[in-house]
Amino acid sequence: MSEQTVEPDERSHAERYGPVADWTRDFDHADPAYNRNVHAVWDGLRDECPIAHTERYGGAWLPTTHDLVREVAYDTDRFSSRGVVASLARPDIPAPVGPAPPITSDPPFHQIARRLLLPPFAPKQIEPWEDEIRILCRQRLDAMGDVEPGTTVVDAALDYAQHIPVNVISRMLGFPLGDDDLFREFVHDTLEGVNLPLDEREASFERLDTYIDAQVLDHERNPRDDLTSYLMKVEIDGNPLSLEHVRGSIVLLLIAGIDTTWSAIGSSIWHLAQHPDDRRRLAEDDDVWTFAIEELLRAYAPVTMARLVAEDVDFHGCPMKADEWVLLPFPAANRDPAFFDRADEVILDRQENRHAAFGLGIHRCLGSNLARLELRVALEELIARFPNFELADPEAVTWSVGQIRGPRSLPIRLL
Ligand code: HEM
Repeated sequence: MSEQTVEPDERSHAERYGPVADWTRDFDHADPAYNRNVHAVWDGLRDECPIAHTERYGGAWLPTTHDLVREVAYDTDRFSSRGVVASLARPDIPAPVGPAPPITSDPPFHQIARRLLLPPFAPKQIEPWEDEIRILCRQRLDAMGDVEPGTTVVDAALDYAQHIPVNVISRMLGFPLGDDDLFREFVHDTLEGVNLPLDEREASFERLDTYIDAQVLDHERNPRDDLTSYLMKVEIDGNPLSLEHVRGSIVLLLIAGIDTTWSAIGSSIWHLAQHPDDRRRLAEDDDVWTFAIEELLRAYAPVTMARLVAEDVDFHGCPMKADEWVLLPFPAANRDPAFFDRADEVILDRQENRHAAFGLGIHRCLGSNLARLELRVALEELIARFPNFELADPEAVTWSVGQIRGPRSLPIRLL
């Protein structure tokens, strides 16, 4: 994966612009205050604009209503997926393939690349992972050691949530299990390092590519029944995928599979720690789970994607320039009161819930079966073992930076 700068000035945005004072005209999705207060920020923007702009990152726009997010997501002619993580740079691999197919591919290639990934993520392939995920969750809970109710504090993000998706995706890809920390580092650099000087960002992409190439070589020598071998075998029009395509898709699965689900599990625990009635309902009512998982995904959707403006366009009065970013805050769409009744409330048994947590349009999440399974099993096991817990110190909770939102440190007291 590689990128080209759009700005010669390589100081970070923090140095150049400072903290955000005006979310309407100078927003920064990587300002630590953004994810901390994002629901209030979106509410304010929906009332004021509803499309915010910033000069940062070579220019970026932020629509905040369901209708606007949907319109951009469906308009693949004017908004390209060539780049989906808004940073100072622009990916230098052009559409339609892009650096991490299919998420960075535009039509018509997108459909070809997407079709290749559908079989391994179909429900039949994902369901058998349930037992392993359950065992993994129990091991993490066991590792919390002897618990003294009312006293023991554990970090639900660091000691629990983060381990689940990283372990599952590395098993699926057939990568060494001991490399969990490395994967988290790669994901952190890609998603949270959008403000890093470009040479540092480039170096982190190179480390990731080198790591994946070594895994591909290992699979070439020792083919096995896993996702990496599958990608190396699968063909387009009778031809195997290029190394760039295999590498890009693996980058995508690592990046898409880890922080997203970690964040969804963490945010759900953050909510449950503050809502004993919801915890009790989950512990007592098996039938509510299906609705509850969707509602937690709606209310705490972790993923904002980005698009690049394909050519200058006037979008609802906003003069968008080619190569500016448009952020797609699916989580803001999920909290739009014009689309959802009582959008700001978590209603565990919400019946009608056409949420956008997994995206809208042709790029809708391919891993949603796996994500739902991991989220449900992680919460089921936690609640079965510890039905009661609370935030140990609300001020000690820290949030990720950038487009994937979730708690990165979440101390809870087990009761
Ligand atoms: C709660 C967890 C997750 C959420 C909220 C989530 C959300 C999303 C969203 C919003 C998109 C649309 C991207 C766009 O429009 O540009 C997407 C795409 C995608 N996701 Fe997920 N995701 C999650 C977990 C996963 C997992 C576990 C995997 C697989 C390991 C995965 C694989 C993918 C892939 C391959 C795409 C690209 C699909 C395409 O471009 O056609 N996701 N995801």
